[in-house]
Amino acid sequence: MTVATGLAVATEGLTKRFRSGQLAVDGIDLRVPHGAVYGFLGPNGSGKTTTIRMLLGLLRPTAGTASLLGQPMPQGAALALPRVGALVEGPAFHPYLSGWHNLMRLDAADRTARASAAEDRVRGALDRVGLAAAAGKRYRHYSLGMRQRLGIAAALLRPRELLVLDEPTNGLDPQGTREVRGLLVELAGAGTTVVLSSHLLSEVEQVCTHVGVMHRGRLVAQDTLAGLHARGASRAVVGTPRPAVAAAVLDRLGLADVVVHPPGATAELGDHAPQDVVAALVHADVPVTEFRVSGAGLEDLFVSLTGEGFDVNG
Ligand SMILES: Nc1ncnc2c1ncn2[C@@H]1O[C@H](COP(=O)(O)OP(=O)(O)OP(=O)(O)O)[C@@H](O)[C@H]1O
Ligand SMILES: [Mg+2]
Repeated sequence: MTVATGLAVATEGLTKRFRSGQLAVDGIDLRVPHGAVYGFLGPNGSGKTTTIRMLLGLLRPTAGTASLLGQPMPQGAALALPRVGALVEGPAFHPYLSGWHNLMRLDAADRTARASAAEDRVRGALDRVGLAAAAGKRYRHYSLGMRQRLGIAAALLRPRELLVLDEPTNGLDPQGTREVRGLLVELAGAGTTVVLSSHLLSEVEQVCTHVGVMHRGRLVAQDTLAGLHARGASRAVVGTPRPAVAAAVLDRLGLADVVVHPPGATAELGDHAPQDVVAALVHADVPVTEFRVSGAGLEDLFVSLTGEGFDVNG
């Protein structure tokens, strides 16, 4: 078994085929460096929750391996999990107990925590997610957003090295979403590694340093946010009174899909550095009146990686 050290989360060929025959996760190699805020992005049904459940040892992989904070999962769960805070779909809260009492129960189940400070921990966690005022309300009377907040509070009961949060802003109002984002940035700033799943590109873009994109059980992209931006912003747009010459230069440099488009020319930038392209144009006596790297942008990249349309892949 490979246990990749130096990474907070690592998987090798992680695979889950359900009894129904469905291949929900198809041989993925996740790489989450320590200190990263890793956005696990993908449309509905792409395998995010299934992956997270395997990472946390809640579901046994069909094939492949996973390690969490250097521990193989699920074998090393007892060593790894006390250092991990998690929020996964359908948390086990008691419907007839208040938020406060639910957290007190969860806290009591953690034998490594000092019992005398339990109330402080619970109060602190409820405060951080803005639930102090609703602490005494029964869970079954909580709104979706309040339930989600309580789930995050449970993950924050103790300081953790790693937080694994499955769609943490699901069901939150804009204010709550902003608060949770702020909280994640704050925790990351203090050195906590965060893995959060989301189907919202905008969310991932705002808080993440690294991104993994899931599509039909496969990890179709994994990069730093800056790296993905570079891939998304892929077209060089040249303005010039000599478009044909410019196009010839772009072609000679090896840029793909060169198009003459008076008053200028465009091409796929690919791995070429913009400054090299400009230098080559100038060197070939092309009067450059404009040079721009036009973003197809992350949005388009995400769409091109994940999808045809709005339908989920059942
Ligand atoms: N216990 C299960 N048995 C059979 N199939 C399952 C089970 N859990 C999930 N699946 C299937 O696996 C696929 C991936 O589901 P998963 O919940 O991992 O997706 P997701 O990316 O978390 O989606 P969402 O954004 O909707 O939460 C789906 O097609 C789903 O129907
Ligand atoms: Mg899910």
